Amino acid sequence: MSQRPECPIGLSSDELPASATGGLAQEAIFTEALISSRQNILPRRLGEPGPSATQIDQMFRAAAAAPDHGQLRPWRFVLVPTGKRAELADVFAQALLERDASATAAQLESAREKAHRAPWLALVVARLGPREPDIPMLERMVSVGCAVQNILLCAHSMAFGTGLTSGQAMFSPPMRSLFKLQTGEEAVCFISVGTASKRKAPRLRPEPIDFVTSL
Ligand SMILES: Cc1cc2nc3c(=O)[nH]c(=O)nc-3n(C[C@H](O)[C@H](O)[C@H](O)COP(=O)(O)O)c2cc1C
Repeated sequence: MSQRPECPIGLSSDELPASATGGLAQEAIFTEALISSRQNILPRRLGEPGPSATQIDQMFRAAAAAPDHGQLRPWRFVLVPTGKRAELADVFAQALLERDASATAAQLESAREKAHRAPWLALVVARLGPREPDIPMLERMVSVGCAVQNILLCAHSMAFGTGLTSGQAMFSPPMRSLFKLQTGEEAVCFISVGTASKRKAPRLRPEPIDFVTSL
């Protein structure tokens, strides 16, 4: 296991190794640092400012660059602006009540509060319906994951913190209803983006030797 570098934002050419003389080498070093320094930030630690309209557009253009076998675009994203957070809060409370009819007022309030946490919030929807039987569902989910990662890395490159959240509420009828999910569509997780008030220590990543073999 190895420690990864700190957030690369602001990495100057002075900090790059002498070997990194060419532009491509610098890009490679920056990309490695960007990827390895991304970390999941809890939405309660994501405050203002959130991304601007231009930055949001960049994030979605990054999503659109995901590998996509058959160009099915097996993802869509639903923004949850401030004015709609109360409706999402209702869904979180309803989903909790469905799972636990005896949930206390405090538990319901805690569930509701989760809808109000980060300045920018979007639901990831996987479109797994039978539009193109030749492309298996697993491949489509890989595409969805790549689109999500592209958004995370794009936001991270702009110095924002990002977090993914999911949970039992994702599968609840009120969630499907609020986000107008169609047959074949699944709510995967929420992406939160904002300014991180606190970052964790870099986590130890698995070593390639732990997950790579050769035939
Ligand atoms: C689809 C998906 C859903 C996730 N849902 C949650 C969640 O509900 N709560 C949470 O704390 N983290 C959630 N995460 C984030 C992971 O916990 C996090 O990526 C993992 O701990 C590794 O940490 P890192 O992203 O900082 O490397 C989710 C990640 C994915 C890919």
